[in-house]
Amino acid sequence: PKAEKSKICKAYEKVGQRVKVSGWIHRLRSNKKVIFIVLRDGTGFIQCVLSGDLAIAKQTLDLSLESSVILYGTVTKVPEGKNAPGGVELAVDYYEVVGLAPSGEDAFTNKIAEGADPSLLLDQRHLVLRGETISAVMKVRAALLRAVRRVFEEEHMTEVNPPCMVQTQVEGGSTLFGFDYYGEEAYLTQSSQLYLETCLAALGDVYCVQESFRAEKSHTRRHLSEYTHIEAELCFLDFNDLLNVIENLLVKSVKYVMEDPVAGPLLKQLNPNFKPPQSPFMRLEYKDAIEWLKEHDIRNENGEIFKFGDDIAEAAERKMTDTIGVPILLTRFPVEIKSFYMKRCADDPRVTESVDVLMPTVGEITGGSMRIDSTEELMEGFKREGIDPKAYYWFIDQRKYGTCPHGGFGLGTERILAWLCDRFTVRDCTLYPRFTGRCKP
Ligand code: 4AD
Ligand code: MG
Repeated sequence: PKAEKSKICKAYEKVGQRVKVSGWIHRLRSNKKVIFIVLRDGTGFIQCVLSGDLAIAKQTLDLSLESSVILYGTVTKVPEGKNAPGGVELAVDYYEVVGLAPSGEDAFTNKIAEGADPSLLLDQRHLVLRGETISAVMKVRAALLRAVRRVFEEEHMTEVNPPCMVQTQVEGGSTLFGFDYYGEEAYLTQSSQLYLETCLAALGDVYCVQESFRAEKSHTRRHLSEYTHIEAELCFLDFNDLLNVIENLLVKSVKYVMEDPVAGPLLKQLNPNFKPPQSPFMRLEYKDAIEWLKEHDIRNENGEIFKFGDDIAEAAERKMTDTIGVPILLTRFPVEIKSFYMKRCADDPRVTESVDVLMPTVGEITGGSMRIDSTEELMEGFKREGIDPKAYYWFIDQRKYGTCPHGGFGLGTERILAWLCDRFTVRDCTLYPRFTGRCKP
């Protein structure tokens, strides 16, 4: 009978039919009479059985893991209780080997030996990606980006694509990657926020999914030099509205990921104890967080007791979040520890209408704020931070030509994933992590 070409995930539904599946040998086991192959094509796994003459012929071929093959055969149902992906097996009657992978010293398993030095594994990242865990995280990642876009679209927001090559900073000069742009100084973008702000009057509420770059010199679990930044900017709203938008985005997009037929089950496998966030999130003001840290004798990196005005660095932030154990909207940070563009609170000008979302195990996954909407105040912000406003004329114009109250936020995709998928580090949540000393493969 004719064989219909099929993706593996679709073959599960084709019991009794003869199909042609293509992929890579994920697992291989044989005895004298039978060869069992678990074939992988990225959409799923299927157990394939070669028996009789086929098995004998195959033995002489010396099949190896990660070889690419095309298998023809009939999809058969596997009895309940017998563990087979999709509940089926492929009774193979014909095969072709497309690319035989090496065996012996150069064999796939030797390249990515478990327990190997992490930096060697990162050198072999292109091979490690084929593993079940990382590919599962990548599937969840794809579903997360789909889910986030779906929520934004539900809110009638427009996706835009701001430039990566820029001549302005957003989050401080110390983490800028600079380069020579036809003889002019330019940087890789740290955040698309300023560009999103300029889009409001043209497109209304906007969002983007764009790489951001930070020259972070320290090695931490949650800092990358390049990460995928989900950013949104909204107009004619107040600080409380902004907090609700962030909360809605996180609750809904996690819900959509969990409902996804592919990503949902993978997420459960990766993180069986995952508790989806519930509205309303706990809201905690910075000044109360400082008191909380004092009461719990959690200290800053120099071992000193926290005081108002201190930056709450990674370790203390995570300790606090893990102890509290639920998502936190940490609000109203002091002006001095935040960026030049943040709006001050009307009832207390020492602090800003700013927010970080903190999640257990990771800490900060989102940062956002209301923006200064008057030119005068913005100029003060530039001055305080020692920034020459000349390069920002276009950003200033947004205040000059029909200003409006507005605010937005940025989410680190890899940080959300570390939290969702229970990964120790954000490096496990991106294809090819970039951090100090690593720019390959
Ligand atoms: O808190 P950040 O620096 O805020 C901004 O860039 C704002 N301009 C965003 C905005 O309002 N549109 O970064 C936002 C988020 C952080 O909460 C974190 O999740 C992530 O981006 N992030 C990083 N992720 C990985 N590696 C890094 N080096 C990161 N720096 C920030
Ligand atoms: Mg931040």
